[in-house]
Amino acid sequence: MKQDLLSASTDLLRRRLPHPPQVAVITGTGLGALADVVEDPVVIPYDEIPGFVASTAPSHAGQMVGGMVRGCPVVVLQGRIHYYEGFGMEKVAWPVRVLQRLGVKTLALTNAAGSLNRAMQPGDIVMLDDHINLMGANPLIGLHDDAHGERFPSMHQPYDQDLRRQFRSLAKRHGVRVAHGVYAAVSGPNLETRAECRMLASLGADLVGMSTVPETIVAVQAGMRVLALSIVSNYGNLFHNERHTQDEIRRHAATAGVNLSKILSDLLAQLSERE
Ligand code: HPA
Repeated sequence: MKQDLLSASTDLLRRRLPHPPQVAVITGTGLGALADVVEDPVVIPYDEIPGFVASTAPSHAGQMVGGMVRGCPVVVLQGRIHYYEGFGMEKVAWPVRVLQRLGVKTLALTNAAGSLNRAMQPGDIVMLDDHINLMGANPLIGLHDDAHGERFPSMHQPYDQDLRRQFRSLAKRHGVRVAHGVYAAVSGPNLETRAECRMLASLGADLVGMSTVPETIVAVQAGMRVLALSIVSNYGNLFHNERHTQDEIRRHAATAGVNLSKILSDLLAQLSERE
């Protein structure tokens, strides 16, 4: 049944996307701007794709944009499903399983995150070099299918070292500072208490957010190379004790998202040269 639905998803996208995508980008809160640089874009709303659900999160468009970015066939997924939306991990992971079937080898994930590290300030771009899954759920739980990859995939290095190196050097060319750190994934949807922020920092997390890790786990199982980038949208309640508004989070994400899109577009150009 699940395989049938996966085939239906994949068949529809093969028919409608202008090119078989080499790279996919899943964009988070306020970061959908990357889709603006896609040439001759073909837009497919999620609710037209079997197995997809339209995201209910604010500022997540809920559509796929396929086309070329500087010679690289890409698909940009504008908006993601979060675990807190209540559809279950299968729906959160679904797009990545479909991308695997489409032959995508490289996945870039972006998100907005809270900072637990004073040096990572609102507006900064942070490359993930590791994560801690504290969502209380895992997308690989359930009956195993060898078509998805290994039952017990190694997570010794979920984020690809070469992609990180490339991204860092492209950011330098643009004069953009890029930090790197550990992302703790929580279920949300409430933001963390002060005690939770202290706990997360003491566990070794630099950032906290409500996404990205499930997609990474599935992509690693699928054998994809993963690059994950956070935009710091706010300090966690570790250094102060303030209410954070969704407006503030979106504003920081959108401003830094412009730089992030420039660097990612350079990276896509480099990846197309590699093939
Ligand atoms: N906590 C969790 N998720 C988030 C935050 C935060 O402070 N900011 C943006 N996403």
